[in-house]
Amino acid sequence: MEQVRLAGETDLAGFRAQARALLARQVPPEAVHWSTATAEEDLFADLPAAAEPVPAPVTPPGASRALVPAAFLRLVETVVLHREPARFSLLYRLLWRLVHEPGLRDDPIDPDMLAAQQMAQQVRRDLHKMKAFLRFRPVPDMGCRDGVLHVAWFEPQHHIVEAIAPWCAKRFTGMDWAILTPERSVRWDGTQLSFGPPARREDAPAADAGEQLWLTYYRSIFNPARLKLDMMRKEMPRRYWHNLPEAVLISELSAQAMERSGQMIEADPSAPERRMPRLPPPQPATPAPVHRILSMADLRTATRACRDCPIGEHATQSVVGEGRLGAPLVFVGEQPGDQEDLQGHPSVGPAGQLLDRALQQAGIDRAAVFVTNAVKHFKYELRGKRRIHKSPTQREAAACLHWLEDELALVRPQACVALGATAARSLLGRPVAVLKERGQWLVRADGLRVLVTLHPSALLRMPAEDQQAGFEGFVRDLGVAAQVTGSRPAPG
Ligand code: URA
Repeated sequence: MEQVRLAGETDLAGFRAQARALLARQVPPEAVHWSTATAEEDLFADLPAAAEPVPAPVTPPGASRALVPAAFLRLVETVVLHREPARFSLLYRLLWRLVHEPGLRDDPIDPDMLAAQQMAQQVRRDLHKMKAFLRFRPVPDMGCRDGVLHVAWFEPQHHIVEAIAPWCAKRFTGMDWAILTPERSVRWDGTQLSFGPPARREDAPAADAGEQLWLTYYRSIFNPARLKLDMMRKEMPRRYWHNLPEAVLISELSAQAMERSGQMIEADPSAPERRMPRLPPPQPATPAPVHRILSMADLRTATRACRDCPIGEHATQSVVGEGRLGAPLVFVGEQPGDQEDLQGHPSVGPAGQLLDRALQQAGIDRAAVFVTNAVKHFKYELRGKRRIHKSPTQREAAACLHWLEDELALVRPQACVALGATAARSLLGRPVAVLKERGQWLVRADGLRVLVTLHPSALLRMPAEDQQAGFEGFVRDLGVAAQVTGSRPAPG
């Protein structure tokens, strides 16, 4: 029996070199025993006396190279990451058979090939789950770029840490992070990845205050009528739950879901109360009224009657900004949503709650700033009983611009934050590529500084696996704006 010992669990290069040499010497698969060096052995690999040398593969001179399909090489790369100890013998047997049984390439139900494909599928699923379920928690670390190291604990099913690390470095490139797993750890410092020893769950930080906010938010957006437990268990298998902060809520929320959706079905539709006077159709000869806005009360009255664009006719009421006159910062959203239209206050619905959470993390007190929108009425489309948000057109936003400028004249802020493209265009008077221009101070012709960032509803629409990184980027942008208020980010 030939003994082949690979340098580690994911030693693809070693496997390829050994397999090529065995094949060239015509060693059949049943005559080879494959094993891997363990992590402990790895630790002593530099000590010459203790190291058991991995025999160098010997390829006889002149031996021809085995030609295998490119798809098989890709399969090998993935299957090597599987935790099954017999994966290397399976792969070598397949390689041997591909060379000696030409018919294998066209056999779609060969048991060896099916087994390898199934293993590759399991590895891909594990990679996908790790991307979706990584949850970082911040710990202060003065050695890091922002004084914070983001640490995640994850228990992969297979040997995927090295394979996934470059993806993580690209996705979370702006922050310093470490991922701890029972097999190995990996760290990113903004320029390079470094791999370290296995970790224990206790090495990762415990839940923090930010996480409590996340749970409150998760609870508030949970829609019992949309719950599909089977689908959810399929997408988020139970074995991942103990590392997911939001999973503690799942049993509780799903237990109440039947009752809550029953109540929602039974409840009468809530007819929004109309608070705006119906206006007589405009008289063609009447000159447009000239408004002098000297207070927020004037603005409220004037915007209620505004018909400069068609949106006002269908909204419940106008929604103007709220906050301190003289506030150093004004946050400008797009337009009121369903909740804002019903309640008459800006940013109180789901996107507003997310904004509140981000402001808190960036150390900005909402009571100390002014929050408003580029457009003062809710534009929507009726679908059954539901009012679905529709973005205002450029003309509609332009028609509303003078109200926004009136507000700025009343508040006299030092700077504005534009939440999304509509607000950015209204404030800067030109189209703005939000993703390109976000997070930096831009200056208007009148000297007012404007910082552009995402609209919080864009975060709500992101795929679940992107939301946390999206939220952290949003908080970072708000952190730049916080300089104006002299605030500091909330600790942890
Ligand atoms: N979206 C906004 O832009 N503003 C609000 O007030 C609510 C949702």
